[in-house]
Amino acid sequence: MENIHSVLNGIYNKFADFEDKGQKATYIPELANVDENLFGVSLTTLNHGQINIGDAHQQFSVQSISKVLLLIMAYNVEGEKLWKRVDVEPSGAAFNSMILLELEKGIPRNPLINAGAIVIADIVFTHFKNPEDDFIKFVRRLTKDDSIDYDIKVFESEKSVGYRNYALINMMKSFGNITNTMDEVMDFYFKICSLSMNCAQLSKAFFFFANDGIDPFSKEVILTPGRNRRINAIMLLCGFYDEAGEFAYRVGLPGKSGVGGGILAILPNKYAVVVFSPKLNEKGNSYRGMAFLECLTTELSDSVF
Ligand code: DON
Repeated sequence: MENIHSVLNGIYNKFADFEDKGQKATYIPELANVDENLFGVSLTTLNHGQINIGDAHQQFSVQSISKVLLLIMAYNVEGEKLWKRVDVEPSGAAFNSMILLELEKGIPRNPLINAGAIVIADIVFTHFKNPEDDFIKFVRRLTKDDSIDYDIKVFESEKSVGYRNYALINMMKSFGNITNTMDEVMDFYFKICSLSMNCAQLSKAFFFFANDGIDPFSKEVILTPGRNRRINAIMLLCGFYDEAGEFAYRVGLPGKSGVGGGILAILPNKYAVVVFSPKLNEKGNSYRGMAFLECLTTELSDSVF
C-alpha cells in the first residue's frame, strides 16, 4: 500500500505538467465547458484502502463508463440469452460507428460501443419498471453514496445533438433489434451517459470487479465470479473501441473509457483505478489518462498477462 501510494504520487507529479496533445470532446456542447486542466486519480485496493490524488473529488461526466454498469443490470436479468441481441467481439471501429451495423443485420459487435449499449438500454427498459431510478439506485448502492445523480444539462445537451445515436437506433429498429419506443430508449441511454461522478466514487463503485464480483463492503454478490470474469474480458477486448489493442498492449488491464475524460481499469484481486483528464486522443480516450496508466502498470509491473 505504501509502495503504491508513493508510486502513484510520483507518477501524478510527473504527469501534472505533461504536454497533453489531446482535445476535449466538443460534439456534446456541454462537455466543452469543462476545465481541461483537471487531473484526478483514485485507486481502491482490496484491503479497503483508497488513495486519492489531485482532482479525485471533482465530479465529471461518466459517459461510456456507465455502459458497464448498465450491462450488469441486463446480464443479471437475461443471463446468456443476452448475447442473442449483442455480440462480444471487438469492433475495431469508433464508438459511434455505423459501418458494421448494417452488414451484421442490426446486431452490435459488443455492449460497449454505442449501438450495443443502446440495445442493452432497450433490454433494461423492458425488464425494469423505473429504469432511470433503478439505474441510479444501483450506482448509489455500489458507492454507498446517495448524492450521486444524473447531470440534466449534459443529458439535454447530448440529446439535442444525438443525430448519430438516433441513426444507430433506427438501423437496429429496422432489423427488429429494438423492442421499445425509440425515443424512450434514447432518453434512457442519454440519461445513463450523463451520470456525474468523481474518481473516488468510481474507483469504489467498480472495485467489485477486482474482487470476483463481490462488493467487499456489503459482501453483496454484484456478479457471479463467472460473469465477473466475462465482463472483465469484454472490457479488455472492447473497452477502448478501436484502441482496445493499444490499451491492452500498453496498459495490460481490462478497463473502460468515457468521452468525459475518465478511464477506469481493473487489476483482478488487487485494485480498481480511475484517472480523469478531459483532453482526448483521436480515438475518444483520455490522452493523459492512457499515458498515466501505462506508466503506472509499467512501474508496478502490473498486468493481467
Ligand atoms: O453516445 C455517446 O456518444 C456518448 N454518450 C458516450 C460516448 C463515449 O463516452 C465514448 N467513449 N470514449
